[in-house]
Amino acid sequence: MKSIIIYESTHHENTKKLVDALAKKHNMKTVSIENAESVDLSEYDIIGLAAGIAFGKFYKRMEEFAAKIPSGKQVFLLYTCGNPSGGYVKSITKTLESNGAKVMGSYGCRGYDTYGPFKLVGGIAKGHPTEEDIDGAVVFYDKISGGE
Ligand SMILES: Cc1cc2nc3c(=O)[nH]c(=O)nc-3n(C[C@H](O)[C@H](O)[C@H](O)COP(=O)(O)O)c2cc1C
Repeated sequence: MKSIIIYESTHHENTKKLVDALAKKHNMKTVSIENAESVDLSEYDIIGLAAGIAFGKFYKRMEEFAAKIPSGKQVFLLYTCGNPSGGYVKSITKTLESNGAKVMGSYGCRGYDTYGPFKLVGGIAKGHPTEEDIDGAVVFYDKISGGE
């Protein structure tokens, strides 16, 4: 199975840490959202979409890109967020499924967040993602991909 991860990780490159760990272990190609349009998605069996969370959803460009995933593709979701409160994959999952993609699962963890008022207090989720958080992403992928 050939996999690729498209990522958008602009705040502190928190999500990129998860992406890099998976790519290293599984020798996967990774492409930032800026270059995603040039990727021929039909070459891949599994597509990972990875981003930080803004205003309760995946970053806007990633939410929009999800609408372009071809029908029938298997997709997994990765994210980091300042305050895990659930529901962050809801919107992107709806977009993917309504276009006929299959969402294999999602993994999210905390990521250092200095947005808005949090900046004044030195940010929240400092030190995240931790090694443990990153390992969690690798274990998640191993599970959904059958350990390939
Ligand atoms: C504009 C903006 C909005 C954010 N909104 C949320 C939010 O709604 N919920 C949350 O838990 N974190 C929120 N965050 C925190 C980020 O999701 C978090 O820091 C994430 O780890 C950033 O990932 P990145 O470094 O890969 O871009 C927000 C950050 C920014 C910059």
